[in-house]
Amino acid sequence: MAAGAGGEKRILCVGLVCLDVISVVDAYPAEDTDTRCLSQRWQRGGNASNSCTVLALLGAPCAFMGSLAPGHAADFIVADFRRRGVDVTHVAWQPHGDVPCACCVVSAASGSRTIVLHDTNLPDVTERDFARVDLAQYKWIHWEARNAAEQERMILRVERHNSALPPAQRIRTSVEVEKPRDELLPLLAHGDVVFISKDLAKHFGYNTAAEALRGLRGRVRPGATMICAWAEEGADALEPDGTLVHVDAFPPERLVDTLGAGDTFNAAVIFALSGGQSLRDALTFGCRIAGKKCGIHGYDGIV
Ligand code: FRU
Repeated sequence: MAAGAGGEKRILCVGLVCLDVISVVDAYPAEDTDTRCLSQRWQRGGNASNSCTVLALLGAPCAFMGSLAPGHAADFIVADFRRRGVDVTHVAWQPHGDVPCACCVVSAASGSRTIVLHDTNLPDVTERDFARVDLAQYKWIHWEARNAAEQERMILRVERHNSALPPAQRIRTSVEVEKPRDELLPLLAHGDVVFISKDLAKHFGYNTAAEALRGLRGRVRPGATMICAWAEEGADALEPDGTLVHVDAFPPERLVDTLGAGDTFNAAVIFALSGGQSLRDALTFGCRIAGKKCGIHGYDGIV
């Protein structure tokens, strides 16, 4: 298949897929207690994987690229990707290692999500794996920062590909730096759009999205747009010319499940920008879809 149905170009998300074992509790338990939960489910997780779920639900042809190792968890994950219509051709099947798994406690009282991830020994996707991607099929490629050095080389490949094309045909790129780990920071210097998490912003000592965007501006490349979502405070973006755009949150009537809310926001923003919407409209759409997600368990019903 050259692209999505009707020849539409696709969106590729590169990053983590894991198994989320989710327990929904009425209130977050105290340490070293023995309680029962309200419900429990397995869900395909990982930022890039969750963003693919949302893109597919929004109707965008999309593909996931990340590592898996054969076994029960991978069978569940691949079946779930297929159910959502996410292309898994670029999954890098690893002969050694375990599929990462997270224990997630979602509190029905607050909607909070507490995640404990075992990010196993499974090797990440490399530049060599990425070299097999037929770039002509994609209009947007998103990277969740993980193995930054390899990912930088993947982005450089896309930049080389773009340099031979007229602007309208270039692949747009985005990078999400969520975890405050030093080795991920060089990735801030790449991508047309850079998503900065509240966690990262706080790690640098910033107390608002606007402060973080202004403070970290020197780390992104000229021409890049920076975006930072801040839960109930909504989201801000900094345009390449320094214009700040703020959009309020769309809180649901009741917060029930915030697991993957950030990934939902990123996907909705990418969806809107890749469809030609303005930055303000894309941020508004991102906040609206992420707000909707926080009011439901999982993803069914976000659109
Ligand atoms: C949500 C999520 C979960 C996963 C964890 C990994 O953003 O992707 O699905 O368990 O974060 O950090």
